Amino acid sequence: MTKRILLTGANGQLGSEIRQRVAQMTAAYNLEPTDQATLDICDLAQVEAAVAAFKPDVIVNAAAYTAVDKAESERDIAFAVNAKGPENLALAASQAGIRLIHISTDYVFNGDNCKPWQPDDPVGPINVYGESKLAGEQSVLKALPDALIIRTAWVYSRHGQNFVKTMIRLMNERDSLGIIADQVGTPTHAGRLAEIVLSAVDQPTLSGIYHWTDAGVASWYDFAQAIYEAGSKVGLITSACQLKPISTQDYPTPATRPCYSVMDCSRSREDLGHARHWREQLQLMIAELDYENNGANA
Ligand SMILES: NC(=O)c1ccc[n+]([C@@H]2O[C@H](COP(=O)([O-])OP(=O)(O)OC[C@H]3O[C@@H](n4cnc5c(N)ncnc54)[C@H](OP(=O)(O)O)[C@@H]3O)[C@@H](O)[C@H]2O)c1
Repeated sequence: MTKRILLTGANGQLGSEIRQRVAQMTAAYNLEPTDQATLDICDLAQVEAAVAAFKPDVIVNAAAYTAVDKAESERDIAFAVNAKGPENLALAASQAGIRLIHISTDYVFNGDNCKPWQPDDPVGPINVYGESKLAGEQSVLKALPDALIIRTAWVYSRHGQNFVKTMIRLMNERDSLGIIADQVGTPTHAGRLAEIVLSAVDQPTLSGIYHWTDAGVASWYDFAQAIYEAGSKVGLITSACQLKPISTQDYPTPATRPCYSVMDCSRSREDLGHARHWREQLQLMIAELDYENNGANA
């Protein structure tokens, strides 16, 4: 049966990838994509009206305030979007008797670990963004205990702004770059994450907290090195750039970031789908960018 999905944050990285995949599977899903202009999740009345009008089977919340450094000075906005917004969606879902799939982050953990974080490990965010996302998880589960929360990490896509696109630009502009080598996590392509979210849509009995990232582990330095190699190979990076590993101390930012963010995804691999290694996913994204920049003109 066709599933009716109310999608928030439809123009973000994840939202765009979900829209793209649903467009290829029109018989399976009836999607109502909304962005901040058409549905501000901070406004409960708007959320309730959208649910009443579209009558979804499930709300997928891909909307968030994701500016990690800016959140340190915009705490109120971060909490409005990342805590109050998801609470509104959960309240509306509860009233309507429908599901909510909400996306959260590895930044709910403090990074002080040496083995992958389990979904039920103690949380302890160390920046405002992480605090606001944790508050969102808690308010969602309070209003709708059967909600499904998928924590992810280090997300990139050909849509929007992200580390991969920033690196490609900087690598073309500079002779050398210092990249942090003492923060470790798992780069995650929003495209595969979108497929995993749709897999969750198809399984109405799933609830609770899941972790999803691509497979493998990397420091930002490893990730940058792989971007340089893949980007140079297809001609997206056209000049030499030396990458130097630096420490977190050498690159102060307003928000403190966890040094170990790898998450244990075994439950989601079993219930939601298999993962590819992050290097393989990066190659796919670089190929998409290359097609966008060069292929279309070839
Ligand atoms: N990006 C990462 O590295 C990362 C890592 C871990 C977890 N996550 C989580 O993954 C999810 C998807 O992230 P993403 O990278 O796709 O985010 P994104 O590209 O920043 O997209 C978020 C979207 O939310 C929209 N939005 C902001 N405030 C809103 C509001 N009040 N009402 C409705 N929409 C609003 C934004 O619209 P405007 O642009 O118009 O403001 C934007 O289109 C989020 O839950 C995020 O916390 C992301």
